[in-house]
Amino acid sequence: RIDRALRPTGLAEYIGQASVCEQMEIFVSAARARGEALDHVLIFGPPGLGKTTLAHVIANEMQVGFRQTSGPVLERPGDLAALLTNLEANDVLFIDEIHRLSPVVEEVLYPALEDYQIDIVIGEGPAARSIKLDLPPFTLVGATTRAGALTSPLRDRFGIVQRLEFYSRAELTDIVERSARILGVFIDASGAGEIARRARGTPRVANRLLRRVRDFAEVKADGRIHEDVAARAMDMLKVDDNGFDIMDRKLLGALVEKFDGGPVGVESLAAAIGEARETIEDVIEPYLIQQGFMMRTPRGRVATNATYRHYGLPQPATPVTTR
Ligand code: ADE
Repeated sequence: RIDRALRPTGLAEYIGQASVCEQMEIFVSAARARGEALDHVLIFGPPGLGKTTLAHVIANEMQVGFRQTSGPVLERPGDLAALLTNLEANDVLFIDEIHRLSPVVEEVLYPALEDYQIDIVIGEGPAARSIKLDLPPFTLVGATTRAGALTSPLRDRFGIVQRLEFYSRAELTDIVERSARILGVFIDASGAGEIARRARGTPRVANRLLRRVRDFAEVKADGRIHEDVAARAMDMLKVDDNGFDIMDRKLLGALVEKFDGGPVGVESLAAAIGEARETIEDVIEPYLIQQGFMMRTPRGRVATNATYRHYGLPQPATPVTTR
C-alpha cells in the first residue's frame, strides 16, 4: 500500500496517542534490557487510528522480526501452527481483526501465548496422536475494532492492552504537515489545519484527504495547498464543515428524518441506508458518538440536539435526551 511511505517507523516519529506511546516506550525498554520477548499486546479502537502502524513500531523498537496475518485468513489450526513454528526468538506476530478468529484456531493460540507451546494432532481416527511442540518466545500483537467481541480467555492472555483514541485537530495538523513533507507538496499551516479539521479524528482519513487536495491543487491552482484551496477541494469531495462525509450524513439524515430522532435499532438504521450493521458500528458511528451527534442507548440510537442544529431543523419539543 502507498500508505506505507507515510507511516512512522519508530515511537519518536509517532504523533499523538501520548499515553500509549509513553507506556510502550517503558515496556519495550524493559523487555529489551532483559533480552526477553515483550508481553502480548492487544490494541483496540476504530479503523484508521494506527493499530497496524503501532504493531510495526513495536517490532521496530524491539528490533525483532515482524509477521502479519488476520483473523479471517487463519481458517484452520494448521495455518496458525505454520506461522508460529516459523517465528524467531522474540519476533512480533501481528493478527489483525483478532476478534474474527475461529474457535478451533483460538484453541491453538492459548497454550502458544501462555507457555510458548502448541499441541499438534498427527494422523486421523484411532491412530491420531497429539504431540507438543516448543515455540520460540514471541509477542502476539492483536488488533480489533471491538474489544468487547473478544472471548474473555483470549482477552485475559494479553499483558498489555492499549486503546487508541481519536486524534485532536492539532495532532492531525502535525500529521498532515509531516505527510506533505514526505510527499513533497507545499502546504501552509492553515491548509493543514483545514484538512485536519475535516479528517474525522483519523490519520488515515487525513492522509487520504491530503492526497485528494493535492490533486485538486495541482489541476485547479498552482499546486500549493492553502486554506482556500483545501476548503474548495473538500467541498468538492463532499466532506462538510464538520468533517462528515456522505455516509455520516446518510446515517444522521436517516436517524432524524426516517426515525424521528430515534430511539431506533442499529439493524433498522442499517436497512434504511443500505449498509452492513458492522460498518455502522465499527466505522461510521464511533466518530459521530464521540462528537456528540448521536447516542447509543439501551433502546437504540438517538439523535442529539447537536444533530438537529447540524441539519438546521427545529429540536423536538420533548428533549431528545430524555425520551
Ligand atoms: N501517519 C499516520 N499516523 C501517524 C501518526 N500517528 N504519527 C505520525 N504519522 C502518522
